[in-house]
Amino acid sequence: MEVVIAPAAELAELAADAIAELLDRRPEAVLGLATGSSPLGIYDALAERVASGRTSFAAAHGFTLDEYVGLPAGHPCSYDAVIRAELVDRVDFAPGAVRGPDGTAADLLAECSRYEAAIADAGGVDLQILGIGTDGHIAFNEPGSSLASRTRVKTLTEQTRRDNARFFDGGLPEVPRHCLTQGLGTIMEARHVVLIARGEAKAEAVRQLVEGPISTRWPATVLQLHPHATVLVDEGAASGLE
Ligand code: F6R
Repeated sequence: MEVVIAPAAELAELAADAIAELLDRRPEAVLGLATGSSPLGIYDALAERVASGRTSFAAAHGFTLDEYVGLPAGHPCSYDAVIRAELVDRVDFAPGAVRGPDGTAADLLAECSRYEAAIADAGGVDLQILGIGTDGHIAFNEPGSSLASRTRVKTLTEQTRRDNARFFDGGLPEVPRHCLTQGLGTIMEARHVVLIARGEAKAEAVRQLVEGPISTRWPATVLQLHPHATVLVDEGAASGLE
């Protein structure tokens, strides 16, 4: 695991560099996309590069990590809507090139299998962007998640619901209780994982990720076993590291 400590703006450029280099080498690359606040700087940097003609996503594909269960299509907090607003609509992906698990599917179990198959059919993820929750979750793999887990339905912890309530107009009561999420085993199959964390609220999760024992208690620790994991942290998020 490679750990880079730098100001947030530099971290975003480093991650954007990794994606741009991948797209230069392999225009049809498959990207794993996280939502949430952590990758926003990366997506801003990528949008700028596309606007100035330096990077293109025209032949690339994307898969998001997770989705709330039960939010109607188009709900501004659905991760489908969020990734569109934050990245897809600002760059030049082909229509339909970015997909996510469907949290409105009538048969959620079948939807999870279908999503796993879609990722495999695309050849697997070349580069996966990740954030990390204050409880050490990646995607919505909350503490206790099997390190070998695949895409499935999960119950969100109260901590994660509270952390995410800021995105919902009506606050906590509006935050769904369930989600579909790629599993830790699914994420571990990405060929390169780039995790970005900013701010002191993430310090304990980052300390466990980098220095803690590998444990389902802190799901992100599974990344210690990944052959190509890059952890990008600012001073605040790095403040618990020895
Ligand atoms: C989002 C996701 C989550 C977030 C995590 C951190 O697709 O999978 O694991 O990455 O909750 O969220 P932020 O970045 O908002 O602190």
